[in-house]
Amino acid sequence: MTSAGSPGIPEAVAIPEEATIGPARAAEIRGRRQWPLPKLAVPGAPLLEVRDLKTHFKLPQGWVKAVDGVSFGLADGEALGLAGESACGKTTTALSLVQLLPSNGKIRGGSVELFGIDLVGKSERAMERYRWREISIVFQGAMNALNPVIRVRDQIAEPLRYRLGQSESVSRARAVELLDLVGIPKKRSDAYPHELSGGMRQRAMIAMALACDPAIVIGDEPTTALDVMVQAQILELLERLRRDLGLSLILITHDLSVLAETCDRVLVMYAGKVAEEGPVRRVFTAPRHPYTRKLVGSFPNLRGDRRTLEVITGQPPDLLAPPPGCRFAPRCEFAMPVCTEVVPPEVRFSDGVRVACHLYPTSDIAEVAAAVAPSPPVAAPAMPGTAAPTPPLQPPT
Ligand SMILES: Nc1ncnc2c1ncn2[C@@H]1O[C@H](COP(=O)(O)OP(=O)(O)OP(=O)(O)O)[C@@H](O)[C@H]1O
Ligand code: SF4
Ligand SMILES: [Mg+2]
Repeated sequence: MTSAGSPGIPEAVAIPEEATIGPARAAEIRGRRQWPLPKLAVPGAPLLEVRDLKTHFKLPQGWVKAVDGVSFGLADGEALGLAGESACGKTTTALSLVQLLPSNGKIRGGSVELFGIDLVGKSERAMERYRWREISIVFQGAMNALNPVIRVRDQIAEPLRYRLGQSESVSRARAVELLDLVGIPKKRSDAYPHELSGGMRQRAMIAMALACDPAIVIGDEPTTALDVMVQAQILELLERLRRDLGLSLILITHDLSVLAETCDRVLVMYAGKVAEEGPVRRVFTAPRHPYTRKLVGSFPNLRGDRRTLEVITGQPPDLLAPPPGCRFAPRCEFAMPVCTEVVPPEVRFSDGVRVACHLYPTSDIAEVAAAVAPSPPVAAPAMPGTAAPTPPLQPPT
């Protein structure tokens, strides 16, 4: 049986209200920065604007179109979740932001504007100004990346010396403070990595990511290797740091309940493209894109009615030669002839959600204007169980 409303999200999870980070709050957050904005920053520019990003990998057979026209923004103090099946391009998107791509990876189009500065095309040397100082990443299992023969405190002090030119004593003192901030007591700061638990090592990696006071921290499955209790502690820590330090967070995880609990907005990716994006509450309680519906339906709901979890049959497409129209078409139960031929454009709705699917050829923003002079109703979508009103369908002929 399918529970109505939010098929996959545990109802015990408190889904945050929609983000309301206005200019005043953004300015207040920027005012708390430890370092000045980069010299090239455009005053008043949004924190991060990614437009039509195309990151491909070169193989002997051709280009793997891992990220293919992805756009999104991130406001000061906001948390954005990236969701989607394995191999849909989440990590590649994250690595593109800081240009830490494997050697066969290349950004072939689009822009990544940080404070209005386009990072695409910047030299390796120029990127050093932004990497870790403005955007840092915590990877899955990052704790295993700690050097086993160097004290944790000294490893955290290192970026402070090399990136910010701090003296040895100042950087060490700051490292101890950072460890304290993430819940590792001062007296443990001279421990070697093997003397700390997995959770503590992951905290140490978060301290390292925070060392240069970045505006954005990306967590790429930062808790996947940890047990659920430690996972909850790490997520709580990230949430506290976001609140206290005014950090913006990009969180990548397969666990939708973590996204629901931690993030303001969610971006659902499929085969290198954005399927749906919007406030987390809207997207998870009333998913519009057939792929989002499947994804949410495949996630267990601890508090809802007992139901059989949905399975997304088939495989994501080969990104060396993706299907010409909608990349989800071979697996979509709503596929129409147009879907196999034309890439669906993104449409925006008045509740802040955008969807790339031919089921929604127009947004409801236009329909608000049309409501002044109502027109005859159009057939409703055959998508049972959708909690919120979905925009009328106009199936192509
Ligand atoms: N170095 C590479 N060379 C060729 N293809 C690559 C390379 N790295 C990643 N890919 C391909 O790019 C696509 C996106 O991979 P990516 O790691 O970004 O996915 P993901 O969404 O992070 O997956 P997961 O959830 O499993 O971590 C996949 O098809 C992957 O096989
Ligand atoms: S565009 Fe067509 S195939 Fe793609 S998700 Fe929408 S209905 Fe399905
Ligand atoms: Mg990944």
